[in-house]
Amino acid sequence: MTTVRPIAQDRLPALLRAMPKAELHMHIEGSLEPELIFALAQRNAVSLPYASVEELRRAYAFTNLQSFLDIYYAGASVLLKEQDFYDMAWAYLERAAADNVIHCEMFFDPQTHTARGVDVKVVIDGLHRACVDAKSKLGVSAALILCFLRHLSEQEAFETLEQALPYRDKFIGIGLDSSEVGHPPEKFAKVFARCRELGFHLVAHAGEEGPPAYVWSALDVLKVERIDHGVQSSKDAALMKRLAQDKIPLTVCPLSNLKLCVFPDLSNHNLGALLDAGLVATVNSDDPAYFGGYMNENFTQTFAATGLSAQQAWQLAANSFNGSFIDASAKKAYVDRLNATFETFA
Ligand code: ADE
Ligand code: ZN
Repeated sequence: MTTVRPIAQDRLPALLRAMPKAELHMHIEGSLEPELIFALAQRNAVSLPYASVEELRRAYAFTNLQSFLDIYYAGASVLLKEQDFYDMAWAYLERAAADNVIHCEMFFDPQTHTARGVDVKVVIDGLHRACVDAKSKLGVSAALILCFLRHLSEQEAFETLEQALPYRDKFIGIGLDSSEVGHPPEKFAKVFARCRELGFHLVAHAGEEGPPAYVWSALDVLKVERIDHGVQSSKDAALMKRLAQDKIPLTVCPLSNLKLCVFPDLSNHNLGALLDAGLVATVNSDDPAYFGGYMNENFTQTFAATGLSAQQAWQLAANSFNGSFIDASAKKAYVDRLNATFETFA
């Protein structure tokens, strides 16, 4: 661990914004801003159950994960063509670059689109083209992780995998998202075993609203390399020990947790406790268009509410690179850039 030289408290927000960082937990469909939803609806002649951007935004008052997912899936209904997927991903990547995100591993939900008759090739081609352009035009490395929707069956996940395999060179990993409670990781044991044989990186949402038992089974049954969210792990001391010992990254999403009422207030968030317990926690935006903030808002609001330090800022950014699926030399190069930024603030 690098020991960070002290910096004045009033310079911390600028440091949080300036430091290079990786985003490891964001759903690209959750980056669709209301303005883009309406523009795409018009372009594709899709009718929406909201009269205006303002009315849609007013509906973003969530009480739990499901209340959000209902609106999130409705928003994604405007995506039909390859260019739509490109435009969505490009808008996110430009926004991420402005927050000094220099590496991103983004989730996509093919079943949300194939259920509406959109070919998985259209989805993957559009998103992948934006990732390629991000490297050359923004200097951001970006990769895709295909997520299965856990409220659907394992059989449907297998069918989705088959449909996507012809494009396997365009995504690096497999994840599990959507409604958590009642859909434990072990429901997808067989399909994750197959994805593992195929050589994909594996991640899963677990312990967002669901119990620590779901984090255990994501680790022991699905054999995932990272846990998405995982904040409920702090209820289980043995699990906290396991996560620390095995250096399993947790992709924590503070503003998401606030907006979906996982924590009543950001000041109650357990990010600092996870770091204090030695866990490889990271900060991420989840669905930034819906939860009121991209990466830098997640950092600055969480630090303001919880009083985390510059040392913890460095740790979170270093964790984001070390917890990513890039190779060891790229990790080192990114952490060197992180250290250089901290030097300019010392
Ligand atoms: N899909 C998009 N955002 C999600 C979240 N926070 N949890 C589970 N599934 C999701
Ligand atoms: Zn998520």
